[in-house]
Amino acid sequence: MLRQRLIIDTDCGSDDAMAIAMAFNDEAYEILFFTICAGNVSAEQAAANTLTTIEKSGRYEPPVYMGVSLPLVRPLVCAHETHGTDGMGDIGLVPSRLKTTPGNGIIKMLEALEQEPDQSLEIVALGPLTNLAVAVRMAPKIMRRVKRISIMGSAGLGTGNVTPVAEFNIWQDPEAAKIVLESGLPLMLVGWDACLDDAMLTASDIERIQNSGDLGRFAIECNRVLLEMNKDRFGVPCLDMADPAAMAAALYPPCIDVCDAYYCSVDTSCGISAGAVHVDIYHFSGKEPNVLVCSRLKSDLFKQYLFRTLGAEET
Ligand code: RIB
Ligand code: CA
Repeated sequence: MLRQRLIIDTDCGSDDAMAIAMAFNDEAYEILFFTICAGNVSAEQAAANTLTTIEKSGRYEPPVYMGVSLPLVRPLVCAHETHGTDGMGDIGLVPSRLKTTPGNGIIKMLEALEQEPDQSLEIVALGPLTNLAVAVRMAPKIMRRVKRISIMGSAGLGTGNVTPVAEFNIWQDPEAAKIVLESGLPLMLVGWDACLDDAMLTASDIERIQNSGDLGRFAIECNRVLLEMNKDRFGVPCLDMADPAAMAAALYPPCIDVCDAYYCSVDTSCGISAGAVHVDIYHFSGKEPNVLVCSRLKSDLFKQYLFRTLGAEET
């Protein structure tokens, strides 16, 4: 079976790590390489976390290329309160052997798009869209060779997670998001709302994954800080796994429940709605849709996929 080739752009924090582990274990896909951006943590720390995740996944070892090291315009505001200072739960995880590969990830992305057959390569973006924005600006014609770009980003049709209206990846670099959303490329935005409600990992889901083996233990334990935060926030142990939800929507479309085409625009102001993605559900703008917005997953199929790709299937 010819595997779908994939590039993953990541600001590798703990939910990125779970999503990357899932992608490694989906036999229908081959990860060509990773490109690194800043977000959850610094770009350097995100690269180290990606290398650790590759080692822990124990499959094949694609190159990890550095990308742009800071948001285009705004200061980097890491999400240490959510993922820990190191982005991986502060449990001492460091790469034991692997190193980043010399070369710039954006150049490598453009080269791959030129070399691969037209409309054959997919990109999954799990962090702020800084790298993708630069790629669009550098070589828009080459970027149009992409088959599809699936993005964890926006509040979807729900609420934000850094402000009432803004989700972290877009909020961290709204100028980059504006460039990507206006690029005309085939985009799917998976909103933070897609990983909430019955898609949240429950205490029993968490226990099942954690007890399933080394990979499952890694995927849960690196999310330790988020789990503790959620116990305080929601009163019960639970995990809102934004990047795993986006990865599942990208690699396993049957788990998508609600996904519709809308005209979306980004608030690049410095006001209270900075970083919000305005989803024009009622066509107030009169503009043609530019994005598919996935706002809900079929939780049973999402969790089946997640269990399968983390080695936590029912025995
Ligand atoms: O808002 C959630 C997103 O921001 C996830 O990608 C998480 O890893 C952070 O990057
Ligand atoms: Ca991320």
